[in-house]
Amino acid sequence: MSVPQPPEPIPGARLLFSLDPAVSHLNHGSFGAVPIGVQRAQQRLRDEMEANPLRFFTQGLVDRIAHTRRHLAGFLGADPDGSALVGNTTTGVAVVLQSLGLQSGDEVLSTDHGYGAVSLAIQRECRRTGAVSRVLPIPLAASDEQLVQIIRAGLRPGRTRVLVVDQLTSATAKLFPTAAIVGVAREHGVPVLVDAAHAPGMLSTTVASIGADFWVGNLHKWAYAPRGTALLAVAPQWRDRIEPLVVSWEQESGFPARVEWQATLDYTSWLAAPAGLFTLRSLGVDRVRAHNAALAAYGQWVVADALGVPPAQLPDPGGPEVSLRLIPLPAGLAATIDAARALQARIGERLAAEVAVMSWNGRGWLRLTGQVYNTADEYERLAARLPALLAQR
Ligand SMILES: Cc1ncc(COP(=O)(O)O)c(C=O)c1O
Repeated sequence: MSVPQPPEPIPGARLLFSLDPAVSHLNHGSFGAVPIGVQRAQQRLRDEMEANPLRFFTQGLVDRIAHTRRHLAGFLGADPDGSALVGNTTTGVAVVLQSLGLQSGDEVLSTDHGYGAVSLAIQRECRRTGAVSRVLPIPLAASDEQLVQIIRAGLRPGRTRVLVVDQLTSATAKLFPTAAIVGVAREHGVPVLVDAAHAPGMLSTTVASIGADFWVGNLHKWAYAPRGTALLAVAPQWRDRIEPLVVSWEQESGFPARVEWQATLDYTSWLAAPAGLFTLRSLGVDRVRAHNAALAAYGQWVVADALGVPPAQLPDPGGPEVSLRLIPLPAGLAATIDAARALQARIGERLAAEVAVMSWNGRGWLRLTGQVYNTADEYERLAARLPALLAQR
């Protein structure tokens, strides 16, 4: 394996953000970071709302939301009229799960790479309906072919009512071959819900090319939208069955308006989301993707080297655009979620570096991201100081 080289920095990119310059922000994946121009765009919308709340909510807001949704769906390659804006991926997953009409004896199939809150949502929906949740173990090093094979063998046609898979996993930073998985599930008549929380902005794969029954992704991570902006895309055969979590005035309008209009809320994050895409496009979408993935790969290598982890033990993310990278931590560290959270907080406090520490299947992992505001020396500083911190157990 050749040593990855850091990419050319994108000049001035750090100044687009209001991030604390005293901290290395190496975990864009969890909550994103909103560029200053996007924050300003949202503030202008809030000013408009506060200048005349009645007019803001009653004169054309539903149309403005629809217009915004079409813009965002177009960028993601999703059907603009078969998609709905929702607050976040967690909400989109909940909308889908409770619209499936699960019954006793049905099964929800997912994998052990799934996001924790999504697993909790599946468990609750199963408790509510009498369905059962089954989780397929998938080895971290599984190839795309092996992964599809494991899923094919795990489907129970007639019982499996939905398969939930991630496009890019959170805890294991692994790209799943979602289009192939959807193809196999379709052969067996099993609908697929793709949790694409990290995809918008980072991955170029279009929503349409995956062909899932349901797909939901956050624009507030890698597409620079204000927090609270996600898109739920639904295949035509399901749209009439999709129910919102909260019934409000657009209920009779059907999908997507009934899902989007959730009574009195601050909808300015959605309306300002196109400013996030504007930022991404101004920097150059391909340039940003290539920069972030290369920087994450460099960060993974430099920190792994400092921890004495040989390159062969570094998980392959599975695609050239993946801007999240994992490094295994020494055995015994971050073996539980609580221990992982405590270590993450300790690294933040002691090393002025925000990272993600993951606990997956009883093993601890450091997850690093690359973003336009990061530079190679931030990973090098972490690499220089992390071994000593980890040694003080
Ligand atoms: C794979 C995955 N699914 C779901 C979520 C939840 O996203 P949100 O908190 O925006 O709903 C995340 C957040 O990091 C994630 O990584």
